[in-house]
Amino acid sequence: MANTILVGAQWGDEGKGKIIDVLTANVDVVVRSQGGNNAGHTVIHRGTKYVLHLIPSGILRRGKVCVIGNGVVIDPVALVAEIDGLQKMGVAVGKNLLISDTAHLVLPYHRVLDEQREIRKGHAKIGTTKRGIGPAYGDKAARTGLRISDLMQPEVFSEKLEAKIRENNSILKAFGAKPIRFREVNEAYLTAGEKLRPFVSNTVVWLHRALQRGKDILFEGAQGTFLDIDHGTYPYVTSSNTTAGGACTGSGVPPHRMDVVLGVVKAYTTRVGEGALPTEDTGVTAMLHKMGREFGATTGRARRCGWFDAVAAHYATMINGVDELAITNLDGLDAVDPIRVCVGYRLNGRRLDVPPCDAAQLEICEPIYIELSGWNSSTHRAKKFADLPPSARAYVRKLAELTGAKLSIVSVGPARGQTIIL
Ligand code: GDP
Ligand code: IMO
Ligand code: MG
Repeated sequence: MANTILVGAQWGDEGKGKIIDVLTANVDVVVRSQGGNNAGHTVIHRGTKYVLHLIPSGILRRGKVCVIGNGVVIDPVALVAEIDGLQKMGVAVGKNLLISDTAHLVLPYHRVLDEQREIRKGHAKIGTTKRGIGPAYGDKAARTGLRISDLMQPEVFSEKLEAKIRENNSILKAFGAKPIRFREVNEAYLTAGEKLRPFVSNTVVWLHRALQRGKDILFEGAQGTFLDIDHGTYPYVTSSNTTAGGACTGSGVPPHRMDVVLGVVKAYTTRVGEGALPTEDTGVTAMLHKMGREFGATTGRARRCGWFDAVAAHYATMINGVDELAITNLDGLDAVDPIRVCVGYRLNGRRLDVPPCDAAQLEICEPIYIELSGWNSSTHRAKKFADLPPSARAYVRKLAELTGAKLSIVSVGPARGQTIIL
């Protein structure tokens, strides 16, 4: 397999984890390049459910190397807990995991600030995962962040941490929040740092050597296109570049070494958190929730659901340069007939073919739908494209046509085997 950037082409939770687990069979290395433990990537293997937050979803395959790149923000205590959790479940985590020495750290004051800013925003809140992601990337951009390399030098780390806690406690005081205690944080982080030490290296150099040796790399996107800090539905976004370019900056692998961009979409649309979702439909939401689906993998929150939004997906294809499309959760529509697909927005009497950049305008866009026939039968057992009912084949073909990418994968269930490769 070529070097592939896999991105979510909607609002996150597209089923990236499942597709990455499947594709890892054909690559040597899987790299996370942005986001933090706001991500929740679900992989079902042999009936066991694994939810990955910071560790790439390739970790379940033996003989593959997983890299947490420089663009990721790492809560070291959460990462140690994730490693321990996987090891308890029998997953080997050792030489197969590398952590970038230049990745920034998420610290407890980031989490408290995240929470406090959300409280202050009231109705205008973003609905963050409260993992401290925004404030951590804020410190990185302000050039006041602490990095893994600091954590690897205990004296340097403690000195910088003490100053940062002093500064942040004065902000927390203004919010009326409890101050952070230096001693507790210092001890917990240095302990986690020692556990992570064997995994830490210059991953940029490691990745370039892997490329020189002809290794195939899969870049695992977290979140989705419309949560991108630049291209998403600002301010209802996350704080990293979730789109294809983020894979380069967040790993140190240059653009000309990338071969393919694979966009992942659900056969419908979901969003967790606040912000516009033009095709949101309470009927679709109720149906999926009744099936026990669409509850957040990180926070457990109920996801908002709606029809497939081809305006958004087409825009995502443009921004990411999506070559190939993976459509997941087709089985979620097994009992829906007819099925709506949004092919345009109406805003103040005008038709739009691209999403407006303003969140308030997107909020009042009315979707223009076409209706396609449902198939009223289970797709769970389909192994090849020809096994799908004709209406299901027509549906996914239409989504690919509207999206402007080549259909390459259709997923009909959460397990590895429930994947049709075209
Ligand atoms: P990610 O963040 O993009 O990796 O997606 P999540 O893991 O947060 O959410 C996707 C959900 O859909 C998870 O529960 C997956 O197990 C599940 N899933 C993925 N593909 C399929 C599919 O084709 N059918 C069904 N039924 N579930 C799927
Ligand atoms: P994966 O990788 C879905 C959303 C949050 C919120 C916004 C900002 O599993 O697809 P943050 O905590 O990042 O500051 O929250 O982004 N969000 C996600 N939604 N899937 C995710 O990750 C998400 N990570 C963040 O709900 O709306
Ligand atoms: Mg998820």
